[in-house]
Amino acid sequence: MSDQSNTILGWALFGGIVALGLGIVSGEYFHGETPEKGGFPIEGAEEGGEGGSAKVEPPFANVLATADAAAGEAIFKKCAACHTITPGGANGIGPNLHGMVGKPQAAHAGFAYSDALKGVGKSWTFDELNLWLKSPKAYAPGTKMSFAGLGKIEDRAALVLYMNAQGSNLPLPAPVAEAAAPAGGDEAAAAGDANAADANAAAPADANAAAPAAAK
Ligand code: HEC
Repeated sequence: MSDQSNTILGWALFGGIVALGLGIVSGEYFHGETPEKGGFPIEGAEEGGEGGSAKVEPPFANVLATADAAAGEAIFKKCAACHTITPGGANGIGPNLHGMVGKPQAAHAGFAYSDALKGVGKSWTFDELNLWLKSPKAYAPGTKMSFAGLGKIEDRAALVLYMNAQGSNLPLPAPVAEAAAPAGGDEAAAAGDANAADANAAAPADANAAAPAAAK
């Protein structure tokens, strides 16, 4: 029995090692060789989440105010498979993006835009770029830009800050007072006052429980 089970164990172990080895090798083979540039822009197209998280985001202007353009330059590598951003740079799979912040949408000379993007009819303000880069498909259903989107608002802000420095140089939008925190604080304070006021009329803890009795 023990000879046989040793043999079985041995083969099981061996099989495990082989599987592990294959996993490592194929992992390297399939993931390690994503082309940086050229070929088809798989890199950007697969990146980013769905971009539709339910979490409430802070105002884009506020995130922009603390964004890091150097980080944005690094993120732009995801875009560079399809876009140039140098002055007079060639159109690729996507149009040249020099001076794009503030420019009317779908207006770059010599590029054949989709009807989807042409139909939006706005300009690329900071906010519009934020929405577009979060999910191009959601922004302009039917767009030719096959890029999943950047799920993190910090990434989009860094990128847009970098883009703004490439030929647009528009003043950044002023940060907005964030409604959530201060308003919550006021409400809490107000509630506190209300309770204090009630305390004179009737014990606040009893107010709910004993409401019917008190009302009559
Ligand atoms: C897979 C290729 C591809 C990738 C990757 C890509 N784009 Fe695009 N982009 C396009 C195409 C194609 C269009 C034209 C869309 C249309 O006409 O519907 C476009 C359009 C745009 C536009 C609108 C330009 C205009 O003139 O109105 C902006 C802005 C833009 N892309 C920014 C980016 C940024 C920033 C990134 C990186 C986060 C990026 N794109 C990644 C292909 C790509």
